[in-house]
Amino acid sequence: MTDPDGQARVLRPLLYPRQASRISRRNYRCAGRLQILDLAVQELARHFRSYLQDHDLGGVWGRLLRLGNYPLLAPAVRASVQRLAREFLVAEDERSIARVLRRVGAIPASATFDAVGEAVLTAAEAEHYVYRNLRLLDWLAAAGGVPAISVKLSALTARFDPIDPTRSKERALVRLRPLIARASELGAAVTVDMEQHELKSLIVDAFVDLLAEFPQTGWQPGIALQAYAPDTPGIVERVIGAARERDRKLCIRLVKGAYWDTEVALAEQRNWPVPVFLEKGETDAQYEALTARLFDNADVIYPAIASHNLRSLSHAIAAARLRGLGPDRWEVQMLLGMANPLAEAVAASGVKLRMYIPMGDLLAGIAYLIRRLMENTANNSVLRQTYVEAQNVTQLLKPPQPVATPSAPPTTHEFASTPLLDFSRPAVQASFRQALNDVARSFDQAWPLDIAGSASQRLQSQTCINPARPNQVLGSIELGEIAHAEQAIANAVRAFDRWRETPAEQRAEICMRAADLMTERRQRLAALEVFEVAKNWREADADVAEAIDYLRFYAQQMRTLAGRHPTICYPGEPNHLLYEPRGVAVVIAPWNFPVAILTGMTTAALVAGNPAIMKPAGPSTLLALQLLQILRDAGMPRDVCQLIPGNGPQIGAHLVDHKDVAIIAFTGSREVGLSILQRAAVVHPGQREVKRVVCEMGGKNAIVIDRDADLDEAVLHTLLSAFGYQGQKCSAASRVIVVGEAHDRFVSRLAEALDCYSYGPPEDPMNVFGPVITAAAQRRIENYIEIGRSEGRLAYRGKVRGEGFYVAPAIFTDIEPGHRLAREEIFGPVLSVMRARTFDAAIAMALDSDFALTGGVFSRLPEHIELARRRFRVGNLYINRKITGATVGAQPFGGMRMSGTGVQAGGPDYLKQFMWTRVITENTLRHGFVPPPQGLSVKS
Ligand code: FDA
Repeated sequence: MTDPDGQARVLRPLLYPRQASRISRRNYRCAGRLQILDLAVQELARHFRSYLQDHDLGGVWGRLLRLGNYPLLAPAVRASVQRLAREFLVAEDERSIARVLRRVGAIPASATFDAVGEAVLTAAEAEHYVYRNLRLLDWLAAAGGVPAISVKLSALTARFDPIDPTRSKERALVRLRPLIARASELGAAVTVDMEQHELKSLIVDAFVDLLAEFPQTGWQPGIALQAYAPDTPGIVERVIGAARERDRKLCIRLVKGAYWDTEVALAEQRNWPVPVFLEKGETDAQYEALTARLFDNADVIYPAIASHNLRSLSHAIAAARLRGLGPDRWEVQMLLGMANPLAEAVAASGVKLRMYIPMGDLLAGIAYLIRRLMENTANNSVLRQTYVEAQNVTQLLKPPQPVATPSAPPTTHEFASTPLLDFSRPAVQASFRQALNDVARSFDQAWPLDIAGSASQRLQSQTCINPARPNQVLGSIELGEIAHAEQAIANAVRAFDRWRETPAEQRAEICMRAADLMTERRQRLAALEVFEVAKNWREADADVAEAIDYLRFYAQQMRTLAGRHPTICYPGEPNHLLYEPRGVAVVIAPWNFPVAILTGMTTAALVAGNPAIMKPAGPSTLLALQLLQILRDAGMPRDVCQLIPGNGPQIGAHLVDHKDVAIIAFTGSREVGLSILQRAAVVHPGQREVKRVVCEMGGKNAIVIDRDADLDEAVLHTLLSAFGYQGQKCSAASRVIVVGEAHDRFVSRLAEALDCYSYGPPEDPMNVFGPVITAAAQRRIENYIEIGRSEGRLAYRGKVRGEGFYVAPAIFTDIEPGHRLAREEIFGPVLSVMRARTFDAAIAMALDSDFALTGGVFSRLPEHIELARRRFRVGNLYINRKITGATVGAQPFGGMRMSGTGVQAGGPDYLKQFMWTRVITENTLRHGFVPPPQGLSVKS
């Protein structure tokens, strides 16, 4: 191998520091000459500052952003920001493109263009992306030379979702075909960009399919592959294999990978394995190994070595020379504006160079610009090291050190959330399909009532059905009557002393075992949710994962609460506080989180030492039975944990009123919650406990969208918050308050985005949305839609077909704070959009509700975010993210006002509601005993 150092000597004369000062001086000189600046640039400058105020930026960027803090200099700064931004992102018109082609031609280099834009959330946006690329191909053909473009498959469809790979791929390919056809006519190069890890298989599969569809036509296919992913060598082999099989030259653009921070953060958040290397040296070393692999297959692969790293490029040049690969057999690629002097040096060394040129609107391309900016300024960025810190060449050329970070030792005591299933993995998809099939084979069973000591008799049964196919019977279950409720309470009363005396550690162990069993059965349980309550795959899995979390979290909490807790030292009289169970608990749970909420409330009662009687919601009784089975299999005694399905008003009310019940844990509607509170306050003859009611009720949750909010995020997250599980979550968004002129664009994007989602039976992963829970719910929601028509303007109504209890989603605008649609809980896919003139007014409107459960804010202004933190008083406030999906332990969940009386579930204080505290004081001042000096505690 020739020496990379040798190549560096060729590149060295043009190294950056000299140029850097020239560029920065030029920026400042130009600043004063620019006159009127458009809004986009003002916004851009402001956003740069608010995004990056905490970053320690050096060089031009840092100075610019610091200057931006002085309003008097703002126009000059804005001008500089615009110029600087345009160094990275070219304006999208034929003249600008011709100009940049001349500019890169002078290096000399060729170009590949990338149409940068907003996230594609709607069909129209995807169509527009295709149109821009077709137009671009024509402009490039007209400019002469071989047109070359880079495309993102995720921009070709609003739903490029790996959970449904076949149809996602087809949706993208439908739009890609005309582009490839045009590229074939023009002999153009089309490179498929690589995106986030979870889209990778989808992108590679689509690329390979495309090769089959467009065999030896004139287009030049290429794909970008990322060296930061440990699984990339396998993908490189697959593409090389495809090239050989089809006897077709393919371009592989070898990059390091642009999503490193996001991949690491998301994997940590989801508790998934991190899909990228954690040490930069590992990425760099794999980059070199893959460079060599591509060069070794240069008969079928055209390697495009895309980097700005002096070492990586020097290595590639050396490796190519070693193999005798001339400039026509490979090329270097760089991003426009990233390392101009290095680009010039590469070109001067006789290597073929291509510049990757993003083009588009400045504001829409802000995400791209921010990414470039972050990359430029990251501590381990080669650009920072080369140009800001001006490290010496020997340092920069050091071979990569592929040292892997030792993995952290497993934590045994700390609570960790259950990872959700990664449905982007084909193996997970296959096993979930299998679970759905297995569950479907066990339909139609009849489940007897199981209350110890009750006489066997023929009882009325409830038929459990699939809301997506009401004629499909999932099973039947015997319903309890008053006598069974009495028997269940008698059993629990008898069990109480024994269960209370069972050591807390033993109770916690049973819960931990139940968590393990539920983990083993999680796919079947989630599959049953898909059928019984019509949750889609992800929602069903998340519900079961949350249930597992509750089992483990409360078990661990109980371990810390168990035993004696010394109070403040009182010499001569050691005092201990103890947590004691209260007595028989009745758990009345809803159907919308059929496993999680029932498990959470029941576990809290049980682990604290209270026998529990579960009264499940009618539409989710089969799931409740499965939970009972798990708890019993884990070792929960039969009389300690009982389940009594039955008529709510009758059995539920009887349990609530009963003199021997000490706790009622309820989650459901305000109407029922308030009536339980009232009934529980009545003291019945023979009653010895003041009943404790832990009560979680509804919400009328609002999201505030600020004037400057990132609509890409706001639209998608509002869509998920409002329409996820058909709006049947107490945390769901049912009001959106948009500040100022963002309103119309927000509404139209939201409506068009929603229109891309299909409604249908959720066992098909294509259907993100399914039916509502019952025919009665369907009627009630439709009734609200009629009310909405009279109160506001119906801005969008979806279309649904099918025999199930479907309600087409509706978006209303022009809703006023006094309207019923703005005040009443609907619990369905109906969203009211309201306008506010200012951010303050929007927060006031959001708070104008009886409920205060969840709330959301989308804003990029730190001062508005701070204001929301202070004033937007709801149980769970979410900033710049969806308002559903709280995580146990991390985001304790529960509301204020009419949303609940309880302490937040999944938080540090929840369990205490199920217990009394007792204090025991012992006088140790006996004759002849000298107490320790004051201030020292007596150890128990
Ligand atoms: P440098 O040597 O500084 O490497 C920075 C990179 O190292 C980071 O981007 C990251 O990948 C990796 N890294 C940083 N910290 C790390 C750590 N602690 N552990 C492990 N690895 C770490 N990207 C993409 O994902 N898809 C694409 O399609 C393209 N397309 C593209 C085309 C062209 C022409 C170029 C030049 C670049 C791309 N990129 C891309 C971007 C590319 O992946 C990469 O982000 C930049 O080129 C920066 O890498 P350098 O080698 O230039 O710098």
